[in-house]
Amino acid sequence: MEKHPRGLLLYALIFVTFFAIVHNVQAQDQNGFISLDCGLSPNEPPYNDPTTGLTYSTDDGFVRSGEMGRIQKEFTSIFSKPSLNLRYFPKGLRNCYTFEVTQGTNYLIRAVFVYGNYDDLNSYPKFDLYLGPNLWATIDMAGRTNGTIQEIIHMTVSKSLQICLVKTGRSSPMINTLELRPLQNNTYKSQSGSLNYYFRYYFSASGQNIRYPDDVDDRKWYPFFNAKEWKELTTNLAINNSNGYEPPQIVMGSASTPISTSAPWNFTWFLPSPTTKFYMYMHFGEIETLDSSDNREFNVALNGELLYERYSPSTLVMRTLSDATAQQCEGGKCLLELTKTLNSTLPPLINALEVFTVIDFSHLETNEDDVVAMRSIQATYGLSNRLSWHGDPCVPKQYLWDGLNCNDLDMSTPPVVTILNLASSGLTGTISPAIENLRHLQKLDLSNNSLTGGIPEFLAGMKSLLVINLSGNNLNGPVPQTLLGKKELNLNLAGNRNLRCSGRLCVSRNGGAIVVSIAASVTFVVVLGVAVAIFVVIKRKNTSNSNVARTTRSSEPTIITKKKRFTYSEVITMTNNFEMVLGKGGFGMVYHGTENGTEQVAVKMLSHSSSQGYKEFKAEVELLLRVHHKNLVGLVGYCDEGENLALIYEYMANGDLREHISGNQRKSILDWETRLKIVVESAQGLEYLHNGCKPPMVHRDVKTTNILVNEHFQAKLADFGLSRSFPTEGETPVSTVVAGTPGYLDPEYYRTNCLNEKSDVYSFGIVLLEVITSQPVINQNRENPHIAEWVGVMLTNGDIKCIMDPKLCGDYDSSSVWRAVELAMSCLNPSSARRPTMSQVVIELNECLAYENARRGTNQNKNSETFMEVNMNFDIVTTPDAR
Ligand SMILES: *[C@@H]1O[C@H](CO)[C@@H](O)[C@H](O)[C@H]1NC(C)=O
Ligand SMILES: *[C@@H]1O[C@H](CO)[C@@H](O)[C@H](O)[C@H]1NC(C)=O
Ligand SMILES: *[C@@H]1O[C@H](CO)[C@@H](O)[C@H](O)[C@H]1NC(C)=O
Ligand SMILES: *[C@@H]1O[C@H](CO)[C@@H](O)[C@H](O)[C@H]1NC(C)=O
Ligand SMILES: *[C@@H]1O[C@H](CO)[C@@H](O)[C@H](O)[C@H]1NC(C)=O
Ligand SMILES: *[C@@H]1O[C@H](CO)[C@@H](O)[C@H](O)[C@H]1NC(C)=O
Ligand SMILES: *[C@@H]1O[C@H](CO)[C@@H](O)[C@H](O)[C@H]1NC(C)=O
Repeated sequence: MEKHPRGLLLYALIFVTFFAIVHNVQAQDQNGFISLDCGLSPNEPPYNDPTTGLTYSTDDGFVRSGEMGRIQKEFTSIFSKPSLNLRYFPKGLRNCYTFEVTQGTNYLIRAVFVYGNYDDLNSYPKFDLYLGPNLWATIDMAGRTNGTIQEIIHMTVSKSLQICLVKTGRSSPMINTLELRPLQNNTYKSQSGSLNYYFRYYFSASGQNIRYPDDVDDRKWYPFFNAKEWKELTTNLAINNSNGYEPPQIVMGSASTPISTSAPWNFTWFLPSPTTKFYMYMHFGEIETLDSSDNREFNVALNGELLYERYSPSTLVMRTLSDATAQQCEGGKCLLELTKTLNSTLPPLINALEVFTVIDFSHLETNEDDVVAMRSIQATYGLSNRLSWHGDPCVPKQYLWDGLNCNDLDMSTPPVVTILNLASSGLTGTISPAIENLRHLQKLDLSNNSLTGGIPEFLAGMKSLLVINLSGNNLNGPVPQTLLGKKELNLNLAGNRNLRCSGRLCVSRNGGAIVVSIAASVTFVVVLGVAVAIFVVIKRKNTSNSNVARTTRSSEPTIITKKKRFTYSEVITMTNNFEMVLGKGGFGMVYHGTENGTEQVAVKMLSHSSSQGYKEFKAEVELLLRVHHKNLVGLVGYCDEGENLALIYEYMANGDLREHISGNQRKSILDWETRLKIVVESAQGLEYLHNGCKPPMVHRDVKTTNILVNEHFQAKLADFGLSRSFPTEGETPVSTVVAGTPGYLDPEYYRTNCLNEKSDVYSFGIVLLEVITSQPVINQNRENPHIAEWVGVMLTNGDIKCIMDPKLCGDYDSSSVWRAVELAMSCLNPSSARRPTMSQVVIELNECLAYENARRGTNQNKNSETFMEVNMNFDIVTTPDAR
């Protein structure tokens, strides 16, 4: 029993390790920063970079692939420690870092690339950088001895973020540091969600680069100053910068203003292309101490277009101006002009400016549930070294994971996995439960692996699945009925020698898989209607009747050719003044009686108080006068004398079926063969009602207490009190008051009120389960109180032994039982149209009986070769033909 497959454990370990690392980094309390020194040996502990105080740690645990490298000595002097190590990726097209992030949060993401001739090839690499499914940048390091930095502000769309390096030529992608800094909400908003760093200047002549710890978000601020036209203003006073952007004090503490008080402050930059769109964030704070007569007010214009009118910075309070929509500059040349208003006594001032270009991340990440499921599947089956299994499973299409296909036609919805093909992948362990979370999966191919364990029930619940190929594995146990019952499903189970397909399909016998002809569609999606009892169940009294007159041997049941009408006084004589109670029915008491002094009868009296019952009484009389069958309890006569109404039946010496299977009546245990005989006979009785009567009848209250057994253990169906004629083909089903017994009640009938002979089939399915299991129909002490649910769940876990009545001590033919279980389940199909007819049930039960008889025969003859046609070609199980 491999309850915890190694793969799963491995996955758990990876998971734990991963979190440990994330936690470790965050434990440094640098506002949730992640600072990776890529290629740092996993054995080396995190360290503080002396220039920034930032804590860097190894990238091991964030990436599953790549090799560790280090830039050559001659380059080390100009770089700080985090850039000295690097990770390069000689294998696979796409290799990715994966981060756990807060969804819907802006992150500043920075990647540093320094070649440093680490590979001694003196060949600058060129490759692509992806953020999730989207191209972030092409990294061309040609001539960049000082390396290159990519920085972006990105709004996370899921809880996970992937940064991928994609090989585009011969060179191996490489990376030196990776930094993630979560930013304050409501800052750096953009319509596209992603901003590509273009520049970030603070207007100061200090010449000093600023980053963490001066900047709490570890933005890098570069000084810019035009000494010819500007003069610098500085202050040491604290500036209130709590506007979300929180520029560093040192940045805000300086500003530039035109030397000439009347001149505009202007600043020019060039965009990568004339069509480039960008966002601008201007940071202003009045840092001069103004006289009461002074006043600073200016207009802000971009390429002559007014953006903000009469803006006046607040004294020692930081404010950031930005535009809700992206800007464009004609010809790609931008001129920002701050022009003093007429009224203003002071020239314009600006402290800092950030410009980001818009980056179009139009590819949506694969549906997050699918991503999680695929990662889980990858971990479970140890597929971490699959070259293509990095990054987003579906997008971009050219880097689609090998073995997957996705639906990404619609750009506006996240792609989903539609095909998972892990054929011939050396898979071991069980079928991963994560597969269930691929909710749009159409084809699942796990063929030609070494998978063990059972076929999980959840596969049947995956609505989109059209093809399941599990061939060529070592799967065992029963194939879920629900799966076999799926009409639209193409299911291939060939070559799994230990699979059992419920008796009829493939039976494990003598070590080999034996497959017999395909059975009726079986589905046991148990939809349990909450049954409401309208009529009280007949409960036989456990007291007085145990020794009732069963010592008297009676002749073969009298075939009543002529129904007799009895007088009330005859009834009194017959029952010896109602001396012996057999039980209490829905309409009154049932008494023991003797007709003609020899023939035993059961006399059912209609209770005087039961006014409603008269209709039912008449129904039963009329019905019984019309029907006759050896498996229906025969009517000896009736009494209809004023208030006194009675039905006189043939006496069934061995009581009802429930007494015999519940085992609490000190009756001898019915063996499997006898049980089968009893259900065959009851089925025949029911079949007669459905097909032999004109018009056909629905019993409406089929249950084990209504199956009576005579002294010869012949079974007959009793209690037609609820019976109704139902229309034949072409007519609409009869709508009646819902009647029946809780637990046996057809949920469809309960729901629709439409009567149909298949309601009896449903109830008969419950009877079958009772006969098989000896379990009560409803037992609130079970986790699954209803017997059908209970059996359904038990079947998925194991073999039939755990559902079979233990009192039988394994003395039965298992294929016979499987067939019976399968049949019962098909009777319980929530859709009445998919249930077999009683004629089919009779045929099927007779076959079960034949199996059991054959076993008994073979036991005696010690001949193991028996009756089943062997058919190993259990290939694609398509829809079994309805019989
Ligand atoms: C690299 O940086 C150094 C100083 O750090 C500078 O002198 C040199 O010009 C830079 N080289 C290039 C190619 O940018
Ligand atoms: C930012 O927003 C995200 C989602 O809207 C939320 O989970 C997170 O707590 C917020 N962070 C702050 C600092 O408010
Ligand atoms: C800073 O300014 C904000 C408004 O911009 C205000 O709510 C806050 O109280 C100020 N903080 C201090 C310390 O003055
Ligand atoms: C920028 O301002 C200066 C004066 O401070 C002016 O001479 C110059 O022409 C302006 N440049 C542009 C492009 O307007
Ligand atoms: C000029 O500034 C003064 C004081 O700041 C203000 O009261 C006045 O309304 C302004 N006039 C114009 C035309 O903007
Ligand atoms: C089954 O897988 C093995 C390797 O695991 C491979 O050699 C063989 O060709 C595969 N057979 C089929 C039918 O795909
Ligand atoms: C199932 O897998 C087997 C072995 O890989 C292959 O031969 C067969 O064609 C597959 N069947 C379907 C329906 O995909």
